[in-house]
Amino acid sequence: MNNIKTKRLITSALPYVNNIPHLGNLIQMLSADVFARFCRSRGYETMYVCGTDEYGTATETKALQEKKTARELCDYYYAIHKDIYEWFDIAFDKFGRTSNEECTEITQSIFNDLDKNGFIKEHTSKQLFCPKCNMFLADRYVDGECPKCHAPDARGDQCDSCGTLLDPTQLLKPRCHTCGSTPEVRETKHLYIDLPSIAPKLEAWMEKASVEGKWSANAIQMTKAWIRDGLNERAITRDLKWGIPVPKAGYENKVFYVWFNAPIGYMSITKQLADEMKAAGKETFDWKKWWLPSESSEKMDGEIKLFQFIGKDNIPFHTVVFPCSEIGTGKDYTKLYHMSSTEFLNYEDGKFSKSKGVGVFGSDAKESGIPSDAWRFYIYYNRPENQDYQFTWKDFQEKYNKELIGNLGNLVNRTLLFINKNYSGKIPAGKKDEALWAQVLEHEKKATEHLEWAELKDAFHEIFAISDICNKAFQAAEPWKAVKTNKEVADNILYNLAYVIKDLMIMIQPYLPKYSQVVAGYLGHTIYDAHFGTPAKEGSLTWEDLGKMEGLDTISETSVYFTPLDNKAMEEFRAKFSGKQNEKKEEKQPKKQEKKAEPKEEKPALTPEQQIDFFNANIELRVAKITDIKPNPDGDKLYIETMDDGSGTPRTIQSGLRKYLTEAELLGKHVVIAANLAPRKMRGVESYGMLLAGDYTDENGKECVEVLDASWAAPGTKVVLEGSDVNAVKKAEISGDEFFSVAIEAKDGIVGIAGKKLLADGKEIKTTKALNGEIG
Ligand code: 2FM
Ligand code: ZN
Repeated sequence: MNNIKTKRLITSALPYVNNIPHLGNLIQMLSADVFARFCRSRGYETMYVCGTDEYGTATETKALQEKKTARELCDYYYAIHKDIYEWFDIAFDKFGRTSNEECTEITQSIFNDLDKNGFIKEHTSKQLFCPKCNMFLADRYVDGECPKCHAPDARGDQCDSCGTLLDPTQLLKPRCHTCGSTPEVRETKHLYIDLPSIAPKLEAWMEKASVEGKWSANAIQMTKAWIRDGLNERAITRDLKWGIPVPKAGYENKVFYVWFNAPIGYMSITKQLADEMKAAGKETFDWKKWWLPSESSEKMDGEIKLFQFIGKDNIPFHTVVFPCSEIGTGKDYTKLYHMSSTEFLNYEDGKFSKSKGVGVFGSDAKESGIPSDAWRFYIYYNRPENQDYQFTWKDFQEKYNKELIGNLGNLVNRTLLFINKNYSGKIPAGKKDEALWAQVLEHEKKATEHLEWAELKDAFHEIFAISDICNKAFQAAEPWKAVKTNKEVADNILYNLAYVIKDLMIMIQPYLPKYSQVVAGYLGHTIYDAHFGTPAKEGSLTWEDLGKMEGLDTISETSVYFTPLDNKAMEEFRAKFSGKQNEKKEEKQPKKQEKKAEPKEEKPALTPEQQIDFFNANIELRVAKITDIKPNPDGDKLYIETMDDGSGTPRTIQSGLRKYLTEAELLGKHVVIAANLAPRKMRGVESYGMLLAGDYTDENGKECVEVLDASWAAPGTKVVLEGSDVNAVKKAEISGDEFFSVAIEAKDGIVGIAGKKLLADGKEIKTTKALNGEIG
C-alpha cells in the first residue's frame, strides 16, 4: 500500500428523500464512488459519506399527499434510495440521513457558535403567506418572474436561468406553487446568517482554495460573481414542523431551513457511522478527526482533503453558504478542497420527469435486466462534465455494444479464451513487450493523473485507449496463426496481454466493480475493494500492482459477461420509458402501433452515418474461398461449405443456396463472408458466418441469387468501406440483429453501405445481375 499521508474526505450531494432518483440524480453518487474506490486502491485513507436530505417543505407536502407522517415518508423513501444505490454498487462508507440526532446536535452547535460570534441576526420580515393553503410559503413553493433576468419561472430561492439567489419576496408576480393563488405578505420573525460580515474571510479562503483545489472555471466564476454582487444575509429559519429545532427563545415553532442543515449532514453522517459502530460494540472513531481535527481526541497525521461531488445547480451552496457557516464558527472545520460539479443529464429529447413518467429511474434500471456495470459504464463514459448530455437508448446501445463489448470485453474474451483453448488455461511464459508496455504505462499514468483530480471521464477513456491498443496488438500478432507457425510470437503476445488485462481490471474496478472482480477471478485474483464494514480480501490487487508482471499463472474457465443489446430490446425500452405522453399517442392510434411493432427488425434503424460507424466498429467481412461443398442431408435447402478464410483453420458455413446454384457453380469461388457472426446451428451442423449474396428475378420471372464475387482477392482479405482502416479491430462476435442493423446494398451493380463502396484489396465489389437491392 502507498505510504500516502493525505486523507480523502469525499461527499456527494445529499439527494432529497421524497422521490425515486433517476439516472441524472445518480451521477453525483456514482462519480464520488469511482473517486472513493480509486482513492482507497491508491492507498489514501478515505471516507465517503452521503445520505438522504430529509427535512423541508417538500417532505411535509409529499407526506400530506401520501397520507403518511413525515417520518414515515422519510423511512419509506430512505429504504428505496438505499436499495437503489446498493444495486448500483455504490460503496459508501456510510449512507445516512439528516433526520437524526447527530444532525440536530451538530447543526445546533454550529448555529450556537455563529450566534456567539455575532453572525446571526434577527429580523422581522414580511413573508409570503398563501391564504388558500393557510401557510407561509417556503422558498421553493413560490414561483414568479426573476427580478434580474425576468425569466418567467424563477423559484423563490433561485433563478435557474441566471443563477441569482433570491428571496421569495423579490419575485415579481409571485404565485403559490401548490395552488397558483397570489400569496399575501405577512410579518414574521426569522434568523439570518450574516454572510456579508463573513465575506472578507470567505473571499480570502476562496482565493487560495480555488487555486489549490483546482476548482472548475464555472465554479470559480459563479462564486466570484456571488461575492462581487454582494452577499445578502440569508434566512436560516422556517415556519415548519419537520426540521431541526432552533435552540433560541421565541423560535419554538420554527425549524432550521433545510439548506442550512443539509451540508452539515455531511458531518453528521460521518458521526452517525461512528455512533453506530460504537452502539454495535465495534471499535469506533471520532468523527471530528475528519471534520474538525483540531478538536479531535484522535490525531490524523496528514492533511484532509475534502472532495465534493455535486450538480451545477448546487455550486453556490457549497462554495459560499456552507463555507460561511463553517468559517463563521471560528473553528477550523474541514472545508472544500476540490469540487467536481457536473452539468445535467437529460433524457431523450427532454428532461427526466417522474410525474410524466419520462426517463429511467433507479428502480427501472434495476428491473431492466441490464447489469449495473453496464449502466455505470454508460454514465461514466458520457459523464456530463462540460456540457449537458442527453441520454438516448440508441446512444446507450451504441456505446455499450461498441466500447464496452467491442473494445474492452473483446480484449478480455479473446485473450482469455485463446489461452484456455490453446494453452489449456496456462498463461505462457514470454518476453516483456517493451514497446507495448511503454504505451500502456503512458496511458496508465495519464489515467492516474486524471483520477487524482476526479477527471473521471478522461481517465475512463484512457483505460479504453489501452484496451484498444491491445486489441490491435492481438490482431497484429495473429496468434491464431502464430501458435502453429511461430509459437514464441503467440506466447509473447498472450503473456503480455494477460498482464495488461490484470492492470485493466485494477483500473476499471472503481468504474465497473462487479465485472472487474469477475475477470480478476478468472486470473485467480481479487481487486482491492475495502470500505467500512467490508474488508478487502487478503492479497487483493491495488493501484500499486499496476505494471507488475508477476503473480499470474492459470486462467479458469470464462464466460461472457456483457451480452450485446439489439435493436428490438432498445425499441422496447424506449417505448416503455417514454412516459404518459406516448401512452396517449398509442391510445389514439392503436392499430398503427400494433402494426409497427410486428416486423422483427425495422431496417435500417440507424442513420447512414451511424450505419457506417457501426459497420466499421463491429462487422467483419472477409474474402473466403469455397474449398468443399456438400448438401446438408437433413435439409433440402442447405449446402455445407468448407472455406479457406485465410486463418489456416477451415471454416464451415451453411447457406440456403441449393435451390439457386449448383455445387459446381460455387466450388472454388472467392466469396465474401460475414466472419464474426455468432455461430448458429442449422439442421444439426454449426455454421460460422454467412456468405453474402443478392437476389434478382431473371427474364423468365424466376427468383435467382447472385453470390458476391471477389476472385482477385486472396482468402482472408478484409472487405472494408472505402476510406476506412483495413486493420480496424472488430468485435469478436456479433448477433444476427446487429449484422442486419446495417443495410448492405447493391446500387447499379456497386455494393456498399450508405453510399460508401465496399472494397477488397482496394477494388470494388460488383454484382452483374442483382444490380439493385439488398445484400444479405
Ligand atoms: O439539490 C438537492 O438535491 C439537495 N438535496 C442537495 C443537498 S447537498 C448538501 F448540501 F446536502
Ligand atoms: Zn397556495
